[in-house]
Amino acid sequence: MKNKLQNLKQEILERLEKAADILQLQELEEKYLGRKGELTLLLKEVGNLPAAERKETGKLANEIRTEIKQKLIEIKKKLDKNIHNDEFFDATLPGTKIASGHLHPLTQVQRDLEKIFSSMGFMILDGPELESDYYNFEALNIPKSHPARDMQDTFYINHKNKQGEYDMVMRTHTSNVQVRAMEKYGAPLRGVALGKIYRNEATDQRHEHTFYQIEGLMVDKDISIAHLMAVLREMFKRLFDQSANIRLRPGFFSFVEPGVEVEMSCLLCKGKGCPVCKRTGWVEMLGAGLVHPNVLRAGGIDSKIYSGFAFGTGIERLAMMKYGIDDIRLFHSGDLYFLKQF
Ligand code: PHE
Repeated sequence: MKNKLQNLKQEILERLEKAADILQLQELEEKYLGRKGELTLLLKEVGNLPAAERKETGKLANEIRTEIKQKLIEIKKKLDKNIHNDEFFDATLPGTKIASGHLHPLTQVQRDLEKIFSSMGFMILDGPELESDYYNFEALNIPKSHPARDMQDTFYINHKNKQGEYDMVMRTHTSNVQVRAMEKYGAPLRGVALGKIYRNEATDQRHEHTFYQIEGLMVDKDISIAHLMAVLREMFKRLFDQSANIRLRPGFFSFVEPGVEVEMSCLLCKGKGCPVCKRTGWVEMLGAGLVHPNVLRAGGIDSKIYSGFAFGTGIERLAMMKYGIDDIRLFHSGDLYFLKQF
């Protein structure tokens, strides 16, 4: 019996090897392994052997069957490949287009801004999004009880200092980088910080709870509002690629003195009035001013020798103006129809 099995195995392997195509292979499979195939029948006979012989022969029979099945798969693969190799391949047909993504519009504006300010000698600064109460408020001349905190209510982290006060917040502005940069680099200093910030805000067409800001800071001898204006004009000119009109109004921020609000003529409605500019024709674009002496002092800079300007604004707001987008919520909506336009 064992000999019979070995001989048949030899025969099958040799014939499989010689199969010229898939059809022949299928015929051989049927002949040997089909329901009435020669190997199938022989395997059935093993069941009728006396118990002593059955065990060992059964094992051999199973091994042979496995080996042959593997060989079948192997040869089938080889024949399949041959078919494809023979196939006519037209190299002149257009290929399948690989879909490629692109940068998010906010990232694009962010990079534009970084380029504009780098070319004016500003370094790119970075700061933490989870910030201490000190750098986000106190060092910026906003003490605990100051009403300015109400305007920038934020997400407090469940972490208290030794006095039992909440001392870590999700930063409410990129201004947290101001004192950090002064401590690290001293004066003179020129830098911009771009990043994500957080507010406890009811969202609408113009407000988000999480958005991006750019902060600018320049500290040197005799810095005045004139320097601020020159730098901001350059930014608007290069970012919007047209002569956008700017106007300055007094504004209050604890960390600047004097403080100003910079408004730009609304590019969406060309000054006629629309929901985005609250029908005034002007959009508030920036908070800015000359760095408050207390802030310079907190940063270890002598306010009698140095002065500086600082400004801050939402990158979404700049992008809305640049691309004519009338709803801030679109940026983080994950809507591909929106994103694919940029
Ligand atoms: N940090 C202010 C804000 O978030 C903007 C600002 C920055 C104002 C720098 C003045 C100077 O609204």
